[in-house]
Amino acid sequence: MRGKRFAVLAAVIALVSGSSPADAIVGGTPARVADTPWVVAITTPDGQLICGGALVAPDKVVTAAHCATLKGVLGKNQRPVEQMRVVAGRTDLRNSGEGTVTAVAGVWRHPDYVEVTRGDDVAVLTLARSLPFRTISLGDAGDDGVVLGWGRTAENTPPAMTLRKVTVPILSDQECMLKEPDFRPGSMLCAGRGGRDACTGDSGGPLVVRGRLAGVVSFGRGCARADEPGVYTRLAHYRSTLGF
Ligand code: ARG
Repeated sequence: MRGKRFAVLAAVIALVSGSSPADAIVGGTPARVADTPWVVAITTPDGQLICGGALVAPDKVVTAAHCATLKGVLGKNQRPVEQMRVVAGRTDLRNSGEGTVTAVAGVWRHPDYVEVTRGDDVAVLTLARSLPFRTISLGDAGDDGVVLGWGRTAENTPPAMTLRKVTVPILSDQECMLKEPDFRPGSMLCAGRGGRDACTGDSGGPLVVRGRLAGVVSFGRGCARADEPGVYTRLAHYRSTLGF
């Protein structure tokens, strides 16, 4: 009864706001982890997708702070390391024969992180061992970038679980401020246009500009909606804090 009413309400809101869940990473294509060996998935011990991430050193993964956060009654606590695994070298997360699964030894979340819309949505996981995969270094934004992930291909689908990528235009700060009230120039960047975006499950994953890690998937209103770009943590702003 309540569920039905909510569904009707949601449909009406979608109608009046002129947004419709667009096609799938949204609007992207299949990717092979062999081409981007530094892209990793963060999963639960039983293999559920939590987020994406990027290997910036053999034993360090940059991701979003919200990926390493549990929301509980007593506030926002760090997700215990025992509840996280880092999966590397695996295009299809269901294929346990491919790549490696590594335990997490430690988590650093940005000390000012409160929630995604307030920024500082960045974390570094220290792995229990070093991985034999190529790493990616931090870089600056540009005119466009490639975002990668195993997440949803549309707002209401389950995660793809196979790696996908899409090229997204990076918008100017002025445009981002107009489109996203929570946008903070300097420490965030926004990218994507109707039809091309990251989506749920892609959080923490890489936005790559000229072969370097420029952003971390942070938040968005729905996925790939017209006039709703995805918001990313702008890593250049955190370079000295992170020390990579
Ligand atoms: N917060 C979402 C996650 O946990 C990702 C949000 C990205 N959304 C977007 N439309 N760009 O996976």
